[in-house]
Amino acid sequence: MSEIAHEVAQRRTFAIISHPDAGKTTLTEKLLFFSGAIQMAGTVKGKKGGKFATSDWMEIEKQRGISVASSVMQFDYREHVVNLLDTPGHQDFSEDTYRVLTAVDSALMVIDAAKGVEEQTIKLLNVCRLRNTPIVTFMNKYDREVRDSLELLDEVESILKIRCAPITWPVGMGKTFRGVYHIHKDQVLLFTPGQGPLDEVEVIEGIDNPRLDELFPLEIEQTRMELELVRGASHPFVLDEFLAGTLTPVFFGSAINNFGVREILDSLVDWAPAPGPRDATIRAIDPTEEKFSAFVFKIQANMDPRHRDRIAFLRVCSGRFERGMKFRHLRLNREIAANSVVTFMAQGREQVETAYAGDIIGVPNHGNIQIGDSFSEGEPLSFTGIPYFAPELFRIARIKNPLKIKQLHKGLQQLGEEGAVQVFKPLNGADLILGAVGVLQFEVVASRLANEYGVEAVFESTSIHTARWITCEDARMLADFEKQLVNNLARDAADSLAYLATSRVNLELTQERWPKLVFHATREHA
Ligand code: G4P
Repeated sequence: MSEIAHEVAQRRTFAIISHPDAGKTTLTEKLLFFSGAIQMAGTVKGKKGGKFATSDWMEIEKQRGISVASSVMQFDYREHVVNLLDTPGHQDFSEDTYRVLTAVDSALMVIDAAKGVEEQTIKLLNVCRLRNTPIVTFMNKYDREVRDSLELLDEVESILKIRCAPITWPVGMGKTFRGVYHIHKDQVLLFTPGQGPLDEVEVIEGIDNPRLDELFPLEIEQTRMELELVRGASHPFVLDEFLAGTLTPVFFGSAINNFGVREILDSLVDWAPAPGPRDATIRAIDPTEEKFSAFVFKIQANMDPRHRDRIAFLRVCSGRFERGMKFRHLRLNREIAANSVVTFMAQGREQVETAYAGDIIGVPNHGNIQIGDSFSEGEPLSFTGIPYFAPELFRIARIKNPLKIKQLHKGLQQLGEEGAVQVFKPLNGADLILGAVGVLQFEVVASRLANEYGVEAVFESTSIHTARWITCEDARMLADFEKQLVNNLARDAADSLAYLATSRVNLELTQERWPKLVFHATREHA
């Protein structure tokens, strides 16, 4: 095996997807703990992501260092290199969250077992489905009163349309939570409230072990009964189905009590895929190829807003990155000397020496790098599958001081390139329309326009409900469409044509009337 192939085989790159408050931050900390990457809990974020008031969050965003440092965490576990990519954790959600999922090879879905499948989990899982990303499921908070476990599996299967293969099964819950039964190993792992991450977990061999009846007769009897049902109602774990994204192994536990976390980490190392080939315009690129290649999935403004420097997050797709090497930024056909590239260890930012497929590296820049850009040491190529998603929220951008119109346009263009918000120019009219998937995106844009571009902007509501990008093979029909519906059409930052619908019904009617046009809910990087 070549050195590169060996390194690639050791890599696991994943993100945690969950609805706010399900326990993502807690679990992230515990994962870092188990791997030995951090010694003390509470260092992932100053405060839990979900709990920031908007103002707090903006304050934090001003000190960009914090979120940059915690957005990619690399740690070693059982001779593997694990890259954990953070999906922004606030209540409100942004396009960043979506795009991070294009850079991972698997995802860990955390569900609050008291609540079941929640809205953002559904959205995030739909994004994972675009690439058939394998999903590991963790049912969290069994130290509390939670819902019936079989019902939870049923909900995952029916709402998220993914088959469940329980690997562990809970014994009791809340005050009577006793532990989990590991179905594959036929062992009961005993739960001790408040146990430390490194405390030895007591293990009892065999579900029929009489010791279990001595310890907690009621709960173990109940578990045995449930297991009968589970065998009938759920699916056995089949690795290929997991890798195809059609089946999810399910684990139960309590993140805050360090319980059930090691099993998840083990499942990621044992089952989750190492980086695989990535599609590019010319051909699929294999991770073990000699030549370095990578694409940008996220851009984050850096510490000092006055300098407008940004960090582009690149997912390495092939070859070996080495300090000092040269590679090309393919859209601009410009050479990059990678001396200042950074990597992201769990402890914070560090200078990277080498990186392989699956790793994330950061390239500081002044705004010339865009989301979706590809880099390579060899042939010109462009990675595909880094989409923009149709916004669900729209605002008209206006300014208080008309003399600042130029700054407004410049600021919005740059923030649009960075992926902070989508900017649409109506074919008819001078206003700029902003589109986002989370309302906080608008507040961030307003604050950044004020701080970085000196523009006081106000965002007014519009009657736009959703957007669809339009393509059509028949140029005459497209021209006709543009003429007739000029008041509903706009061009985005990449000059792609978009239909701005006022309602779902309006969109459906337009689609029916123009059957030869294709209405896309996502757009690939231009
Ligand atoms: P998030 O990043 O997904 O938003 O969730 P986060 O980890 O911040 O957890 C949300 C809340 O759920 C926190 O409580 C956290 O302590 C709690 N939690 C996480 N895992 C477990 C668990 O296994 N069992 C129980 N009982 N609670 C859990 P909080 O009340 O919002 O904050 P705090 O007062 O505990 O700090």
